[in-house]
Parts: sequence; C-alpha cells; structure tokens
Amino acid sequence: MMYTALILAAGEGKRMKSRLPKVLHEIAFKPLICWVLEAVSGADGRIVVVGHGADEVKSVLGESVSYAVQEQRLGTGHAVAQAKDLFRDARRVLILSGDTPLITRQTLDAAYACHTSGGNAVTVLTAHVPNPNGYGRILRGSDGNLAGIVEHADASEAQRAITEVNSGIYFFDTDALLFALDRISNGNAQGEYYLTDAIGILLGEHKKAGAFTLGDHNEIIGINDRVQLAAASERMRERIIRRHMENGVTFLSPQTAYIGGGAVIGRDTIIMPNTVIEGDTTVAEGCVIGPNSRITASEIGAGSEINNSVVVASKIGGGVHVGPFAYIRPHCEIGDNIKIGDFVEIKNAVIGDGTKVSHLTYIGDADVGAGVNFGCGTVIVNYDGSKKHRATVGDGAFIGCNTNLVSPVRVGDGAFIAAGSTITEDIPNHAFAIARSRQTVKTEWKRK
Ligand code: UD1
Ligand code: CA
Repeated sequence: MMYTALILAAGEGKRMKSRLPKVLHEIAFKPLICWVLEAVSGADGRIVVVGHGADEVKSVLGESVSYAVQEQRLGTGHAVAQAKDLFRDARRVLILSGDTPLITRQTLDAAYACHTSGGNAVTVLTAHVPNPNGYGRILRGSDGNLAGIVEHADASEAQRAITEVNSGIYFFDTDALLFALDRISNGNAQGEYYLTDAIGILLGEHKKAGAFTLGDHNEIIGINDRVQLAAASERMRERIIRRHMENGVTFLSPQTAYIGGGAVIGRDTIIMPNTVIEGDTTVAEGCVIGPNSRITASEIGAGSEINNSVVVASKIGGGVHVGPFAYIRPHCEIGDNIKIGDFVEIKNAVIGDGTKVSHLTYIGDADVGAGVNFGCGTVIVNYDGSKKHRATVGDGAFIGCNTNLVSPVRVGDGAFIAAGSTITEDIPNHAFAIARSRQTVKTEWKRK
C-alpha cells in the first residue's frame, strides 16, 4: 500500500458527557480509536491528531503511532493541517475519524482500489443512511457525479432531505490535499475550517473527486453520544459473534453473548447464555462455556466446561470441569482432567492433572501435584497478616475436609490428612497427619 493513515481524535466529544476522551470509550472491550487503527493495518504509517485529553490518548496508544497536536479545535480541516509535516512525504493520505469504529479493512481496501484506478485526487466514502441527521450531505450533479459536501448546519431544507452522507473517511492524493488545506476558510454556520470543503475546492480546479458508496451503512456509524455508542457496540457484538458462528461455534443465545475481538474459539464449542469472553482468550474445541460465565485473557483446553464461573488471566487444560460458582483468579495453571467444583476460589496456583477440588475450598499461592483430593472446606492459609507464603501439595495426597494448610508448608506425595486438621508443619511422603484435639464425651452430662 502506498498511503499513510491520519486519524482525527482531538475533539472533546461533548455529547458523551464524560471525563474520558470520546475515542477512548469502548465497544467490545476495546477503545473506539483502537478499532479504527486495526482497520488501517494496511497503511504504511499511522498518524493521530490529538488535542482534548491528548495525554490520556497517548498513554493508551503509546509508540505505535505518531502524533500531531491540535491545540485549539478549529475544525476537521484545521486538524488535518496540524499533521502536514508528518504526511507531506506520503503519496496518498487516508483520513478517518477516531469515532467511526465499525469501518473495516476490506472496505478501505476496496475504496483505495477505486481511488487509484479512477485516478481521483480525492475519494469520499459515502453511505445511504436511514437517518442522515447531523451528517454532512453528499451533493451530486445532474450527471450523478460528486459535486460537493454540505454540512448539516449549513444545509437547506432540500439538502437535508438527502440521505447519502459523508462517512468522514477519504483517500486524498497528498499534493491535492495540501493544495486544498491552504484554501479552506471558516465562513460557515459553525465558524470552523471544514475538511469537507476540500471537495468543492478540488472540483473547482477541475481535479477528479469520486465517491465510493458502501454497501453496509453501519460501517460508518459515527459515535457522538451514548445512544450511538450502544448502537455501534451492538453492531460490533453481532459482527464478532457471526464470525465465530461461521467458524463452527454454537451460541445458544447470541443476544446475550459478549465476545471481544481478540478471542479465538474452537469449533463445536457451545456458548451458553450470558457469557462474556474478553481479552486475548483462547477457547479450544468442544468446550461448553456458560451460562453466566466471564473469561478474561485466559486459555481453556479442549473439552472443558466453565459453568457459572469467572476465570481471569489463567491457563486451564483439557477435560476440566469448572463450577458452578467457581472463581479462578490470575496466574493459575490448571492441568488436564481436573474438577474445580462449587464455591472454590483458586489464585496464583499450579494444579496437577486429575486433581479434584470439589467444593468450598480456597487454594492461594500453592503448587499442587496430580491426583490430589481436596476435601470440602479446605483453606490454604497463605497470608500471615504481613506476607504471603506458598504451600506445596505432593502427588496423590488426600486432604481431609475442613483442613487448614498454614503456609509455608509442604504436604508430601501420597500423604493423608485427617479431617479438621490445622497443618503447620511439613508432612513427609505417604505419612498420616492429624492435628486436632481429641473428642471428649461426658456420659449423661445433659441430663445431670
Ligand atoms: C464530520 C464531517 C461530516 C461527516 C461526519 C461523519 C466535517 C466538517 N464534517 O462531522 O461531513 O458526515 O464527520 O461522522 O468534517 N476533530 C478534531 N479537531 C477538530 C474537530 C474535529 O480532531 O477541530 C475530530 C473529532 O475528534 C472527530 C472527528 O474529527 O474524531 C470528526 O469531528 P466531529 O466534530 O465529530 O465531526 P462531525 O460533526 O461528526
Ligand atoms: Ca462525528
């Protein structure tokens, strides 16, 4: 590709009524501007014009793009002009808004082909929308060719009836863009330097201006308020879920599943109602996820089940049953064919293959071997009030119900702990440990 992408993101987004800069609001768990950046992955370079909340935007995007700063918001034409020095050497410039997250790489590639094959100085991406309110309207001559763009605020009644609108996305030949920028003025209803005036200016110079009309008008949804944010969020959600369905994933209730753009899901996996999958999560084939589950930045092996549970930043093997009502906190590595039952919390722990943690148990900061059986109500006492300590449980150990393992402590391979024990000292391999007071029985005590 032979173009640089320029993304306008200096505006405040007043209508969002938010402390957060508009372009950092999220759909499908990712900031709006990051979706736009993903769509321009075909560009040679990426420039972002920042202004309102510049530091916040920069801290999210980091070094992955270059920045131009627009100190005062004097309009989209003015915003583009602030980046002149950064795109001057590119042959062509793709301009987009940071608040138009549904645009796709495929559409941009097709529009670029139209721009170059048509020999255009500028190509405007347009769409026919059900409600054109607020958008710039596309003016066409009697020959059907693009004749200019009029902003909503400046449009006549007749022009406001036009339903073909400007997406705010354009390919420009750089020479033509630089020429037009020097000639844009602010004599309009909003007193702003409109980038859209570049079209009329170039046509006045007998340069070629084309329109590329999108098939799916949803791609150009621009987000100005929370209602549009919700609408765009819904479109993105549907798009992501459709892609997984096409890849062989079953959704029992597509309306209630929320899947982020980074998730990979294997075929024949079933997603039950009310499931949220975020971050770079991988779910292998043949899993059952949900209902009512949330998985964040984790890896789930083939044939596993996550039922009414939460999994965060952890790795779970194949054939594992989690839940109902389990909480797997960050940094767990859970092997294969394991059972994590109801009301179990696991944190920063390694659990070996075939281990059973069936109910009401807390395992924090521990290395647990394979084939271990945790009785109901086991607690790893990992915190002494000032420091965290680690416990080790060897392969094949049996932990009786209602045991406390006070870390740091080691339970040997095949060791057996009697129910109700509070274990404070290491237990050798294959040993038996009991740590509770003896039962006292006083006959006839109650009657006396
Ligand atoms: C703009 C277009 C309109 C189009 C619509 C599509 C103009 C004059 N109008 O209108 O034709 O239909 O987008 O969504 O271009 N920005 C800056 N600096 C500024 C002003 C804006 O960086 O001084 C940025 C904003 O942060 C935003 C983008 O440019 O990301 C578009 O600005 P916005 O005010 O939302 O323009 P619209 O009124 O939506
Ligand atoms: Ca807008």
